[in-house]
Amino acid sequence: MIVLQTSISKMIPKRGKVRDIYDFGNSLLLVSSDRISAFDWVLPSGIPDKGKVLNQLSAFWFRQLGVPNHLITTDVAKMPFPKDTNLETFDGRSMLGKKCKVVPIECVVRGYLSGSGWKEYQKSGSVCGIKLPNGLRESDPLPEPIFTPSTKAETGHDENITFEQMIEIVGQDTSEKLRQKSLDIFRRGSELAIKKGIIIADTKFEFGFSEDEIILIDEVLTPDSSRFWSADCYQPGQGQPSYDKQFVRDWLTQSGWDKNSPPPELPNEIVQKTQEKYLEVFRILTGHSLNQTH
Ligand SMILES: Nc1ncnc2c1ncn2[C@@H]1O[C@H](COP(=O)(O)OP(=O)(O)OP(=O)(O)O)[C@@H](O)[C@H]1O
Ligand SMILES: [Mg+2]
Repeated sequence: MIVLQTSISKMIPKRGKVRDIYDFGNSLLLVSSDRISAFDWVLPSGIPDKGKVLNQLSAFWFRQLGVPNHLITTDVAKMPFPKDTNLETFDGRSMLGKKCKVVPIECVVRGYLSGSGWKEYQKSGSVCGIKLPNGLRESDPLPEPIFTPSTKAETGHDENITFEQMIEIVGQDTSEKLRQKSLDIFRRGSELAIKKGIIIADTKFEFGFSEDEIILIDEVLTPDSSRFWSADCYQPGQGQPSYDKQFVRDWLTQSGWDKNSPPPELPNEIVQKTQEKYLEVFRILTGHSLNQTH
């Protein structure tokens, strides 16, 4: 493996909402920070350990799912860091992945009626152009999981699109492959999660081309990309508490913040409760506590 000569501190990462992405040539270093976003804003307060949970849970799923994916390693000792790098900053929250040409579609799969899907169903009886049976309640399971793609907006809100619109953007062949892969991965992930008492209500996958092969990239089946519900507490006919930013969203909503100006700092109590939720779902799904290293 070629070791980079320049100092890591001189490399300028591309900053996503949550990840810092360093370009290492054929590979990308994805460093998951503790940043948290809500209502399309990155909040001024971080959630301790969140980046490690996202990174290590994604790695867990990449290994479990057994589908072609971008994961090369999560072991910082095996990454081509310049010699003078302080590895502690990266340990536990970093993933080296194959660099891909990203397919500009968010591949959303929904197994239950919730969020924007529920809102759309109440108005039209369908979700992203897919007609659903009458009489479904909020959080009800769908007759079968559905693929509801959305655009991958550089800024602002992702927009739901129909399968036909997806075909216009990425072509018929890629669209069909991605729909099939997304539904397969969702089924497999859901089967594994339900054994641990977790319902995956919906989730979002990203795919990329590595040479001519389409592979799973980014993060997978994490609390940031998915709605996880506790099977024990599940009660259709209403919204479900979810294992992610529920405390943060609820607190922000009641704080009086207008959602148009920079958001306020979170109180310590909300930060702590949110951290506990991330750690808890990690423990439930993987069967062990978060490892503070890789
Ligand atoms: N293997 C890969 N090759 C190329 N790009 C990748 C790969 N894996 C992930 N990415 C890209 O890296 C970025 C990850 O950053 P991050 O999740 O922080 O940002 P975001 O997706 O812009 O924000 P959000 O997830 O909050 O919508 C995404 O743009 C994703 O498409
Ligand atoms: Mg992302």
